[in-house]
Order: sequence, then structure tokens, then C-alpha cells
Amino acid sequence: MMLHIPGVLSREQVASMRRRLDASNWVDGRTTVGAQGAQVKQNRQLAEGSPLAQELGAEVLAALANSPLFFSAALPLRTCPPLFNCYAGGEHYGDHVDGAMRRVAASGQWLRTDVSTTLFLSDPDEYDGGELTVVDAYGEHEVKLPAGDLIVYPSTSIHRVAPVTRGARICSFFWTQSMVRDDMRRCMLLELDQNIQSLRARLGDCTELVNITGHYHNLLRQWSEV
Ligand code: NI
Repeated sequence: MMLHIPGVLSREQVASMRRRLDASNWVDGRTTVGAQGAQVKQNRQLAEGSPLAQELGAEVLAALANSPLFFSAALPLRTCPPLFNCYAGGEHYGDHVDGAMRRVAASGQWLRTDVSTTLFLSDPDEYDGGELTVVDAYGEHEVKLPAGDLIVYPSTSIHRVAPVTRGARICSFFWTQSMVRDDMRRCMLLELDQNIQSLRARLGDCTELVNITGHYHNLLRQWSEV
């Protein structure tokens, strides 16, 4: 499932983050990948665990906590501290798949990457290129979103970032271990939840809707691992 969630950060939040990011020091992005990724990755990142990354990462996590749609789509068990990257001057990231397991430095805890998220902090007119392309069973999907919007996609997918040929593409990115490991099950639960919300708005809580809501929760009980 790929899902675009608009307006996770307000314009003011984006502007404030950008002021701090634009004045920051970026390091080689290959510090956070394995051997295969290092061969195709060419970008810069905020140093993992740096005070600025921690501060901005906490803001991103707080914004996610206010997004019922992110919760419904990702069913997050835990999300690793958000990272921040910058592509400019032809920088790019070739086809790769995100590592299955990540160790969160602060806690020492392992996290299985089920859901990948890219939160855009540059508007599309600030740069040329830089499209995120995600490949799935239905083909290739190109993503370039307004600042403050995010895209959620399965961490199992092969994806890439096209060379940025003008300006700079600044994003936050992070991984979530979901309570529901399987992407198709998460997708079914999201659709069910969205249809329940829509029917409830139209009909109120009739007996059938209470029953269907019960089925949603019973499926989640069957499929979740915490
Ligand atoms: Ni990736």
C-alpha cells in the first residue's frame, strides 16, 4: 500500500524546520546503509543522533501522533528516530531495498522495518528531479509531494530517488515496525476502517456498523503482534 497523507506539518512548522536545516552541517549519507545501499547511495544526511536531528525528529513524531490516518495506515508499534537528508547537485539514490532490521542507537532496541515513510520538507518547485520511485506488483509509482506531506510505502519494495539537477530536496525519512507485519492485511484494515468512518458519518452508529466495527477489531486481534 502506498498512501499520501497531506498536511502532516503546517507551513509554519516546515518553515521553522527548514531554517534550522538550511543552517546545519550535512554528512555523507552512506553512514546509515549496508554494503549494497552504499554502492548506489549518494546524498547527505544530518548526523544520526545529533542534537538537531533529535530535536526535529521529536517534532516529526509529535506530528505523526496527531495524524489518525498515519496510525490507521501504519498501525505503528514503534517508529525509529526520524532521519533527515538532502539531495542537490546531481545527488541521487539508485534502486535499493531498505534493510529489514534496524537497531535504535538510543535504546539498543531492534526494530523490524515494515513501513517506510518519506516526509517532504521542500516544495516541488524548489528543485528539479528528486522523484521517489517505488516499484510494486502494479508497476512504478513516482512521488514528489508538497512540503509537509508524507508518503507511506511498504519497506519490502524496491525504490530509488532520481538525481536532483536544480535546487535541493530536503526530506525526513524513517521506518516503523507495524503491529501488523503483512502489507496486504494492513491495506485491508485501512480500507475497512475508512469505510466504517465514512458510513458512520452518513448513518450514525446503527447496529450493522457496530457489528462491522467489531469485525475490524477482531481482525486486528487476530493479526497484530505486540
Ligand atoms: Ni530507501
